Amino acid sequence: MNRFAFATVSTLAVAAASSVVAEPQAEVLHWWTSGGEAKSVAVLQEEFASNGGTWTDMPVAGGGGDAAMTALRARVLAGNAPAAVQLKGPAIQEWYEEGVLADISSVAEAEGWAEVLPASIAGHMKCEGTWCAAPVNVHRVDWIWANADVLAANGIEMPTTWEEFNAAADKLQAAGVIPLAHGGQAWQDATVFETVVLGIGGPEFFQKALVDLDPEALTSDTMVQVFDQMRTLRGYVDENFSGRDWNLATAMVMNGEAAFQIMGDWAKGEFLAAGKKPGEDFLCASTPGDGYLYNVDSFAMFDVEGDDKKAGQDLLAKLIVAPNFQKVFNLNKGSIPARTDVALDDFDICANLSAKDMGATSDAGSLLPSYAHGMALRGSQSGAITDVVTAHFNSDMSSADAVQQLADAVANSY
Ligand code: BGC
Repeated sequence: MNRFAFATVSTLAVAAASSVVAEPQAEVLHWWTSGGEAKSVAVLQEEFASNGGTWTDMPVAGGGGDAAMTALRARVLAGNAPAAVQLKGPAIQEWYEEGVLADISSVAEAEGWAEVLPASIAGHMKCEGTWCAAPVNVHRVDWIWANADVLAANGIEMPTTWEEFNAAADKLQAAGVIPLAHGGQAWQDATVFETVVLGIGGPEFFQKALVDLDPEALTSDTMVQVFDQMRTLRGYVDENFSGRDWNLATAMVMNGEAAFQIMGDWAKGEFLAAGKKPGEDFLCASTPGDGYLYNVDSFAMFDVEGDDKKAGQDLLAKLIVAPNFQKVFNLNKGSIPARTDVALDDFDICANLSAKDMGATSDAGSLLPSYAHGMALRGSQSGAITDVVTAHFNSDMSSADAVQQLADAVANSY
């Protein structure tokens, strides 16, 4: 029998007879607060409610989730963890090792997750063989977004190499357009940096440098070139970039103040929420070079007391991976479903390109975890890298000094 059939007459009758009915409830910590994100998480809230659940929202603003993770730590330390938490990558296993995650294997097995999720995604959702997180989507990080009219008015095509990007940016700057919309927050600097590492170094170099943390790769000439390109990009952002939120940078592209943004496809969620059409109002292309940087959002359930809360966790986990939610949520969010059996006919050209490239790069061995979005490394290591990347971007540090600091920071982060 379906253990989630809360609303069926027979279940209610039995429950009424025994007068114990678990009414699913969940406090959900997440960082989806921008226009497109809020629209997306509302899909889950509605599905949860229409299945009898009571949702207590705990949104923690701050792109990339740094503030949300700080809030999570405080709650867990206080012995009062939220029931469900937006959590991803190796942080899932880090929390598991602290002994605070609930095992959701019974839901995963009943729902056949292993049959509908790619092995690479399923791997991130497991902790010592048990299922400890539910995947929501696949975001691609290595994207360039552009204002179609601004490019056309300046006779510019979407760049396919970093040289073309720089040439286009020079031309735009001369025409008085801000070439690159950027928000000076460490995670956004890291997002741009990893696309440059992939583009200039190629997928194997990315793997060595930002996944394996190979000291030779970190101090190589290639990494020097990466920092040179970061310095060049710094010259293409406007004076007011410091501290700007990512969605405000997206708005600059939307309204034609800036031409490009380098950002994961949650930026597409913003364009769509504002009624903009891909291929008409805005353009998408992968950042120059081969490969695909993936970022899978997921929810982990924390150990909580009470049948209502446990029922809420089970219901949430079930809904998150179910086909309807995976479709509707991702149509809003800008990402593609984590499940492989959801048809993409209703998805736009950018989503279809993402799915096609994900398949091709998976076959070619160039499907890589995003370091900037917590898919590749443990927190202490990714934090050490980001500190150097952001220090370089916000100073006149030379590329040679940056690679040395990078290698030192990584060596000290273990
Ligand atoms: C998350 C996205 C989110 C973005 C901006 C990323 O790390 O994976 O879901 O939209 O940060 O907050």
